[in-house]
Amino acid sequence: MNRRTLSTLLGLITFLLPMLSWAAPQPLIFSHVVSPDTPKGKMAEMFKSIVEKKLGDQYEIIIHSDSSLMNDNEAVNAIADGRIHFAAPSLSKFERYTQQLKVFDLPFLFPDMNAVNRFQKSPTGQALLTSMKSQGILGLGYLHNGLKQLTADRPFTQPDDLAGLHFRTMNSDVLIKQFELLNAKAVPIAFSEVYQALAEQRIQGQENTWSNIFSKAFYDHQPYMMISNHGVLDYMLITNSDFWGGLSEEEQRSFRFALDMSLKYGNAVAKAKSANDKTELSRMKSVSVYEPSADELATWQTAMQPLWDSYKDIIGEEIIRAAQQASRP
Ligand code: LMR
Repeated sequence: MNRRTLSTLLGLITFLLPMLSWAAPQPLIFSHVVSPDTPKGKMAEMFKSIVEKKLGDQYEIIIHSDSSLMNDNEAVNAIADGRIHFAAPSLSKFERYTQQLKVFDLPFLFPDMNAVNRFQKSPTGQALLTSMKSQGILGLGYLHNGLKQLTADRPFTQPDDLAGLHFRTMNSDVLIKQFELLNAKAVPIAFSEVYQALAEQRIQGQENTWSNIFSKAFYDHQPYMMISNHGVLDYMLITNSDFWGGLSEEEQRSFRFALDMSLKYGNAVAKAKSANDKTELSRMKSVSVYEPSADELATWQTAMQPLWDSYKDIIGEEIIRAAQQASRP
């Protein structure tokens, strides 16, 4: 190759390189804290595969599961600042941005997941998705996990049994107060640290869904469980408002399609996993799953329900009323 050809070739490469790197798909970060084999983990994978099928030459979805990038409180802030693109934190983790979502933390408000679903689909539930838009957080949809159960390292059947014990909560003042009403000590801890805190006996109990208890092996240190169904743990799929606003209509349609499909799939997985993981745990010889009678459950309700009144003005009476309406079809 003579000098002239070589320099033409080099010139061509120099010209093409920026175009090549410009053409590489833009990485979009989806951060979450649970295992891939959970409703949220499965939903994220399906979302990735549909987006990349439709828009693969423009975008690549990079999923960070199991808190490998950041915890949920950090993820909510990172979405608000536009540092990451997608996350699906529990509805209990938006305290810094809105008080309205605390409705989901009120104990015994939703009798079952159908009621949760009806509320999320109601005009009030849909309006909550855009309630943090001006702060950079846009909700694109809800994803189920399921109802929460109480677990501990010792047997318990009534509220007094928990007095003095340390219970892990998500970082939500409603949940903290819920345990204080039981005279237990609430300890807010990031999800990624719960297993270790249980193993080191820094906490004696926690509340979570069948899927999270099973997938994170909390049963190793929490052999006593109660079918309390006392609260809900669901998620909001969120993105950064400016990132979303900067997408073309065509792109938004493709993302919406991927979201609709993957949220439907995630919700179906949530339903199946809730039943399946409960059965798996009930079958374990080392685990005792207690089913309270209606009267016993009523004592838990009486102990926790004062929270409804104390949060009436903070959450907004009309929001609580809409959730109650959805609970009585
Ligand atoms: C928790 O912190 O217990 C949950 O929010 C974890 C999750 O995302 O399901």
